[in-house]
Parts: sequence; structure tokens; C-alpha cells
Amino acid sequence: MKLYQIATLVSMCLLLGGCGSAASDAHADALANGKAIFTTGRDSQGQMIAAQTPPLMPSCQACHGATGAGGLHLPGGAVSADLRYSALVSGQKHPYTMALLERAISSGIDDDGDSLNPVMPRWQLSKQDLHDIAYYVLHELK
Ligand code: HEC
Repeated sequence: MKLYQIATLVSMCLLLGGCGSAASDAHADALANGKAIFTTGRDSQGQMIAAQTPPLMPSCQACHGATGAGGLHLPGGAVSADLRYSALVSGQKHPYTMALLERAISSGIDDDGDSLNPVMPRWQLSKQDLHDIAYYVLHELK
């Protein structure tokens, strides 16, 4: 690469607000929105999350706990699942991916293709909210 080409690249990066910053903003936005949904049941716009049938609890945290460890006993014998990486990914026959998590959250189908207990709401979220809550679960609950 010629020197003037490098100079052009560097100045384009500066003009665009720094190389890589757009990507890290998207990452930070997704985590902030995912965290809002997980802890409060409202997205960062203040929109309350809804499900196919009215959920027994308004937020993920109310059933799965602040750390995502789950273990809460709910009506009908359901026990909330452990959503930490150690449970969803490590040691799973079909480790959860973003796509599998989005499917579980919106359709109640788990990583093995089985139906989850109906106490786990079938969430009806915007594409963005669904992405961000799955992203938060996969990246933040250890
Ligand atoms: C009313 C309680 C309740 C709420 C609220 C709730 N869940 Fe669940 N969730 C459950 C239960 C119970 C299970 C376990 C179902 C089973 O054993 O079949 C579960 C299972 C899951 C699973 C599947 C885990 C696995 O091991 O396959 C995921 C993923 C999940 N929940 C994510 C979420 C997210 C994200 C939210 C918030 C948007 C949420 N849940 C809100 C009760 C709840």
C-alpha cells in the first residue's frame, strides 16, 4: 500500500469517528438494551415487553434471578432454567447460539428442539429487542 493510500484510510477513519467505534457502540447499545429488558421487563425506549399469553412475571430476572442462575419454583411444577453460559453453552449437546436463543425466547423451543414448559412465556419482541436480550444472556450471564 502506498503512503497516500494509508493517509487516506487514516483520515477516513477519523472522519467516521474512529475505526471500530461504530461496532463497539452497537455492542454497548445491545448490552444496555438487553440488560434493561432482563432486569426491568422494559426496553431502553421504556416499552414493556409482551408475550403470547400474559406472563406470570414481568421481567426475565423475576423468574431467572439477577445472576440468571434460575432454580425458582413456579406454579405447575415448573422450575426456571439456569441461563448462565455454563448451563446454556458449555457441556450442552447442542450449545445455544444467538439463533437458538432467539428461538427459545420467542417460540419456546429449546436447543434440543423440545418445547419448554408454558410457564416460560413465548415473548413477542421486536427484532432488535429479541437480538439484544439474546445477546445479553449469551454474553453477560456467566
Ligand atoms: C414467569 C417466569 C419466567 C419469565 C418471566 C421468564 N422465564 Fe425463561 N424460563 C422459565 C421457566 C420455568 C423455564 C424452564 C422451562 C422448562 O423447564 O421447560 C425457562 C426457560 C428459559 C430458557 C431455556 C433454557 C434452557 O435450558 O433451555 C431461556 C433461554 C429463557 N427461559 C430465557 C428467558 C428470557 C430471556 C426471559 C425474559 C425475556 C425469560 N426467560 C423470562 C420461566 C420464565
